[in-house]
Amino acid sequence: MRAVEVQAGGNTLVIDPYDILETGNILVFPQSFFEDVPQDREFLLAVRPSEGQYHKNIAYRPHIDKLSGFGKMDPAAAERLRSVLRDYSRRVIEFTGKLLPRYQPQWRVDFASLRPLEETGRELPLKKRNDLLHTDAFPTRPTNGGLILRFFTNVHPSKSRVWVTSDPFAVAASRYAHAAGLNAFARGSSYHFRQALAYVRLAPAGRSRYDEFMLAFHDYLKRNQEYQQSCPKYRFEFAPGTSWMVFTDIVPHSVESGQSAVEQTFIISAASLGNPKNAPVAILEKLAGKNLRLAERKSPETAFHG
Ligand code: SIN
Ligand code: FE
Repeated sequence: MRAVEVQAGGNTLVIDPYDILETGNILVFPQSFFEDVPQDREFLLAVRPSEGQYHKNIAYRPHIDKLSGFGKMDPAAAERLRSVLRDYSRRVIEFTGKLLPRYQPQWRVDFASLRPLEETGRELPLKKRNDLLHTDAFPTRPTNGGLILRFFTNVHPSKSRVWVTSDPFAVAASRYAHAAGLNAFARGSSYHFRQALAYVRLAPAGRSRYDEFMLAFHDYLKRNQEYQQSCPKYRFEFAPGTSWMVFTDIVPHSVESGQSAVEQTFIISAASLGNPKNAPVAILEKLAGKNLRLAERKSPETAFHG
């Protein structure tokens, strides 16, 4: 597990960014994403979520140009925040499209977010804790086998954002997928229950067995003290101003400390990977000996191509 630095002028890359990302490493970009807009960075830094705010992060949905989770905020400040996140999101989408053209035709641009709070000492319920190692899965946005690629930027002027990661999904899954109930998910007992919930609108429609399992695996890893304590750990300090990109469903990760990061998420089609066998869905289907995807992909309403 390593972090590979990419200097400005990414078109002269001598590394294979697809291989680096898909085998569970992190691409790091030391150049600042806010060099031309220092006032945007200052603004993001000053955002404070309101008292008793329910959401973990402030989200921006690029496809409908909408902000959510900001609680009670002065309307002018909310408008400014929307415009700063819109601009960041657009720049990241353009940058990522140029860096990873093979993913771009089939990707779905997901949400961007601002993470304004210091991560050390946050009191969150277990499932939402960032300081426990986990692979990402979205409760409300099923991917049907698509991968979660995230681009982060540390906007804090002096604090690094510190992550601890572990060996990639293939390793964690071969050790724990069965213990986490893979075969039951593959058989689909909970899947049929979920379909019934979706029918009465208590769960999102279009959630595959893969999505069900990945949600369960996220919780399983966070709850598993043996895994949390004994798995190999790699620590990364993302310096102020740097950006990094990682498949957060391939790389188990946790946040040790840091404040004020922004992020843009992409859902990458498993078929578009340099090596589709690296996709968690392919790894799980091999372990389970069964297809875990829905035959016909129903796009969640929140998704769009961009
Ligand atoms: C996470 O996905 O667990 C949080 C990552 C971060 O906010 O740095
Ligand atoms: Fe995560």
